[in-house]
Amino acid sequence: MLIKRAQEIRSSEITDEQQYHNRRQFIQQTSGGALGLVAGATMLSNSAAQLQAQEPIPNLQPSPFSTDEDLNSFEDITTYNNFYEFGLQKEDPSRYAHEMTIDPWSVRVEGEMNKPAADVPLEDILRPHTLEERIYRLRCVEAWSMVVPWVGFPLGDLIRRFEPTSNAKFVRFETLHRPEEMRGQRGRSLEWPYVEGLRMDEAMHPLAILAVGVYGKTLLNQQGAPLRLVVPWKYGFKSIKSIVKIQFVREQPLNSWNVAIPNEYGFYSNVNPEVDHPRWSQASERRIGSFFRIRTAMFNGYAEQVASLYEGMDLRRNY
Ligand code: MTE
Repeated sequence: MLIKRAQEIRSSEITDEQQYHNRRQFIQQTSGGALGLVAGATMLSNSAAQLQAQEPIPNLQPSPFSTDEDLNSFEDITTYNNFYEFGLQKEDPSRYAHEMTIDPWSVRVEGEMNKPAADVPLEDILRPHTLEERIYRLRCVEAWSMVVPWVGFPLGDLIRRFEPTSNAKFVRFETLHRPEEMRGQRGRSLEWPYVEGLRMDEAMHPLAILAVGVYGKTLLNQQGAPLRLVVPWKYGFKSIKSIVKIQFVREQPLNSWNVAIPNEYGFYSNVNPEVDHPRWSQASERRIGSFFRIRTAMFNGYAEQVASLYEGMDLRRNY
């Protein structure tokens, strides 16, 4: 089986965070950063299609895009979540997301592309990609942040495989809609399914990744298993979880939070300390686990890499 259901995972299988830090340190010391983990005579592959649930993913390359800030703990990352499909409280996803079945899993890929539309099994989505570790700041629109050691691969690499045509100006994503397993979907806190979108050049940017793991192991359900988006220069709500549909579309898609409260949440949602949310300031943030506030950086600290995507745009209007 590719990825076990979260409820099948014994807590003893979950990486002890200290073990993870030790392993990282060992890897860095033995290889000077350029990894070469060897098991017997065989080089272990980390091809995504071979993932086993909550098993360490070998051979994770450190990425030049990673931040060197202190990581949030495994506990913070897996118990303080937003996943409205399981409730509105931060601890609801860790309580209820095990009710979602993630095996088998496939992703419908369709729209303005040369390849035929298809339901692609997760194994085939992942097979050609090599996984890397990306340590990113995640800045939530609610003015808190975390530092997360994701495991994933560039979204752009997946998009290229389906050969979008020049009509494909945006990419639209959908989360699983299964009210019988996702108790939040039995109410109307948002319109279901959860939808997000990116402009094509944003989606192709090398910082945008699809994540399958965290702390060197596969994602737990509350984090958006088995496949979620991570766009580190945008507010966290753009990072849609448990993706079942990817569409290449001509028009800018509506996204769930914009539909719910259009004057508070736009399409772009770039982290911007100069544009306040109508009800609170975005100039600073609280790192989860710390008491003090820190200043929020433009594009969440990734301005050098992404500012050129928005040249000439009024970021107050396009919030
Ligand atoms: N994806 C879905 N399907 N449903 C959600 O409610 N919440 C978003 C985003 N992705 C959400 C979602 C919000 S508001 C944030 S801040 C991030 O997920 C939180 O990701 P995390 O729980 O991994 O920190």
